Amino acid sequence: MDVNMFYLIIQWLLYITVISVALFYWFMHRSFQYWKDRGIVYEKPSFPLGNLGFIMRKSFWQFCFELKNKYPGDYVGSFLAWKPALFVNTPELARRVLVKDQDSFQDRYLYSGYSDPLGSLNLFTVKNPVWSDMRHELSPMFTSLRLKKITELMNINSTELVRKIERDHVKGNKCVNLKELFSMYTSDTVAFSVFGIRVSVLNDHLSPLWAITSHMVKWTFWRGLEFTMIFFMPAVAALLKLKFFSVGASDYIKEIFWNVVNERKSKGTSNDRDLVNHLLKLKDNLKLPADAGSELADNLMLAQVAVFILGSVETSSSTLSYCLHELAYHPEEQEKLFKEIDEALQTTGKDILEYDDLMNLSYLSACLRETLRKYPPVAYLDRICNKRYKLTDDVVIEKGIPVFVNVLAIHYDENIFPEPEKWRPERLNATSDSDNLQFTFLPFGEGPRFCIGKRYGMMQMRTALAQLIHKYRLEPAAPYPVDSDPYSVILAPADGGTVKFVPR
Ligand code: HEM
Repeated sequence: MDVNMFYLIIQWLLYITVISVALFYWFMHRSFQYWKDRGIVYEKPSFPLGNLGFIMRKSFWQFCFELKNKYPGDYVGSFLAWKPALFVNTPELARRVLVKDQDSFQDRYLYSGYSDPLGSLNLFTVKNPVWSDMRHELSPMFTSLRLKKITELMNINSTELVRKIERDHVKGNKCVNLKELFSMYTSDTVAFSVFGIRVSVLNDHLSPLWAITSHMVKWTFWRGLEFTMIFFMPAVAALLKLKFFSVGASDYIKEIFWNVVNERKSKGTSNDRDLVNHLLKLKDNLKLPADAGSELADNLMLAQVAVFILGSVETSSSTLSYCLHELAYHPEEQEKLFKEIDEALQTTGKDILEYDDLMNLSYLSACLRETLRKYPPVAYLDRICNKRYKLTDDVVIEKGIPVFVNVLAIHYDENIFPEPEKWRPERLNATSDSDNLQFTFLPFGEGPRFCIGKRYGMMQMRTALAQLIHKYRLEPAAPYPVDSDPYSVILAPADGGTVKFVPR
């Protein structure tokens, strides 16, 4: 190639780059007019990330918190890169989006593309109509009868948790990382409820499940970025073929799943209580397109395994960590909780409280609920508008626009929860697990897509909290308030959070 030709190519490449950047800038600039054109108050965006310029510096939770402080009205427009999105801030709008008019908001906005089958086919991400069939098939996994049985194992693992604390953090004097400790506990329990296998990373045994869960809950910079893109810039995530579950975790899940299935086949056994068995039935019952290969059915099963593991571990371990932190700073409330547990043990004459006993501990439930109010792990409930919808006389939501219910705007509304920054279990003492208090309490979401693992999650937190508080007094060991992990899309304490355990 002669020199002139080389310069000509460089010149053209330069033109093309300049024109592409100019076109992109023009496109962004036009998109950024969206809310202004409709007369809706909005957060001023900047090129090229819109209102997402904070990512990897602070958590999305923090963003939702600041957004509701800055725009306390009923709703506010924002931009997820170039995409206009609406945040709604009131119980009434939450009710309409999540329940009353849910046929206009059937799916979630997040998406990770066909190149990521486990990421795009799980119950959390999958779109209708596949979602409704799947939800119908999976719901029986969470009946009271099953939950009662699993509670026995949750209690066994909670006892292991108490022992580990004694070994490592009382006698061993090691500083505890609460998030990691509770991830181990929930990981041991989910191994049984998903695969029917009994493992104990808490007991220092090698656990194949911990190989998966420790991958899942490790929020490095890149993992956080990948997850953030899947949630808030799904088109870019699909283009870049990003993965909802890390490759390491997905490979382990496949390996364990097929090992369990093959072992059951070879021995001719089955286990009605775990998810594997349920999924094998689901595979037969799902009405997949005739041309869908068996790979799709297999991926559908594996995707549910992966999301159940993530759902069980991440949210409950964060909530327990924050609950212990608050109890450490609230000695009076801690004593009240201890008394409630102690009295129940004395009245029942049991060493360990069982399912029904735990359900009767109203103050223990109130401590967990108040933690979920102040620190909802999922700060927003996202939906995508699938049918043009008139929100108010002034606002019409067009098809394709994502709508986020800002849970923090509701949980921190002073008119609903006075002095919302304060942790006060008394305010949620008289409520039940199924009560959303007229859409003012939404840690598990609402409507058809509310959290399928709500009762399971509550129970695994109850067993752990009841045993821990009966054995240990908690003292503060970290500053108050706790910073949130900027890389985690779900709320998690930075550095995992810590307290001091003092044997009673
Ligand atoms: C403290 C515990 C938990 C919290 C705070 C929590 C929170 C949530 C929230 C806010 C949603 C979205 C709801 C909506 O959009 O309306 C959700 C959905 C979901 N959660 Fe949970 N969760 C918890 C425990 C669990 C557990 C233990 C599992 C699994 C066993 C689980 C599995 C799921 C799944 C599969 C979905 C998607 C449901 C669907 O779209 O049909 N979660 N969760």
